[in-house]
Amino acid sequence: MIEVRNLEKHYGGEPVLRDLSFSVEAGEIFGIVGHSGAGKSTLLRCFNGLEKYQGGSVTVMGKEVADLDEGGIKSLRRDMGMIFQNFSLMGRKNVFDNVAFPLQIWDEPKTLGARVNSALRFWAKPQPAITDRVMELLELVGLADKRFERVQNLSGGQKQRIGIARALALNPKVLLCDEATSALDPKTTLNILDLLQDINARFNLTLVVVTHQMEVVKRICHRLLLLDKGVAQCLGKTEELFLSPTETLKKFVDEEYTLIPSGTNIRMMFPRDISQDAVITTMARDLNISFSIVGGKLERYLDDVLGFLIINVPDEHLEAVFRYMREKNLHWEVLGNDRNALQRPL
Ligand SMILES: Nc1ncnc2c1ncn2[C@@H]1O[C@H](COP(=O)(O)OP(=O)(O)OP(=O)(O)O)[C@@H](O)[C@H]1O
Ligand SMILES: [Mg+2]
Repeated sequence: MIEVRNLEKHYGGEPVLRDLSFSVEAGEIFGIVGHSGAGKSTLLRCFNGLEKYQGGSVTVMGKEVADLDEGGIKSLRRDMGMIFQNFSLMGRKNVFDNVAFPLQIWDEPKTLGARVNSALRFWAKPQPAITDRVMELLELVGLADKRFERVQNLSGGQKQRIGIARALALNPKVLLCDEATSALDPKTTLNILDLLQDINARFNLTLVVVTHQMEVVKRICHRLLLLDKGVAQCLGKTEELFLSPTETLKKFVDEEYTLIPSGTNIRMMFPRDISQDAVITTMARDLNISFSIVGGKLERYLDDVLGFLIINVPDEHLEAVFRYMREKNLHWEVLGNDRNALQRPL
């Protein structure tokens, strides 16, 4: 579906992608992971012609992206839907109009007069075929009842569902997802991932999922590519890589959180039925102290999903926090700033 051979990309003199070679197979969910600045978004943008590359080759469905003319790029983008972290929707428009937008502009004519007519058409009542398609997509993402709602009034998860519906409007062969769940809370993240997985299975749609969240990769990606400063660090089946991780992958997983050097970093575990927000706000209120939240996420343990939150507690409040966690029967561990120096709970 997508073949990348010896890809080189630089901005000015700065190399951003270096000698990348891999392929994405039709129907798979392919993950691209790496730290901020690794080149993940740039790589995605090379797939759909939004970025030029200076060396090597990117072929999508047999065609070299660099060789495509304007018409070729246009049809390439029709075949590649894209969703983003910030949703990129028209906030003041309603749900229906957002999803209808690509359908209404796709055959945009070239002459000025025809463009004006086309713009007028956009504001007029949509054609029945467009209405049917939009409603079909809204049913798919579970938002048919919100069709008249303004997008700015919806939750992050609902916005991303609309983003997905809009990206699927023109029946793409590939869906590019750039940090699609990074702005969402853990529960909503899982809902969106389930939806993406369902779409992949139902329509055999190829998904390329760019993320820095390992749980996203573990949950839905069949294969993954780990990028570090534009260099491919490992490539393979997700399950195999996690069962016997390379040193770089281990390091990446461990480095997800930069612990605060002062105070004490504590990882609090939350089973599925305990709300993290409630525990944290109650603890802060009951003890009348403040602490920083270093990070948190959901982790999959076998068939279950458990959440954790890493907090940083100033030394003077540590005893009180330990006492509180013991009283409430919470599970926790103290993280040393050197990740190997894991201490036992007091
Ligand atoms: N238009 C641009 N001009 C110059 N440099 C750029 C441009 N876009 C990206 N870069 C640089 O290229 C590198 C890779 O950026 P890119 O956005 O692809 O990283 P990323 O892996 O998607 O990061 P993040 O996780 O933060 O989204 C970074 O060093 C970035 O500063
Ligand atoms: Mg990015």
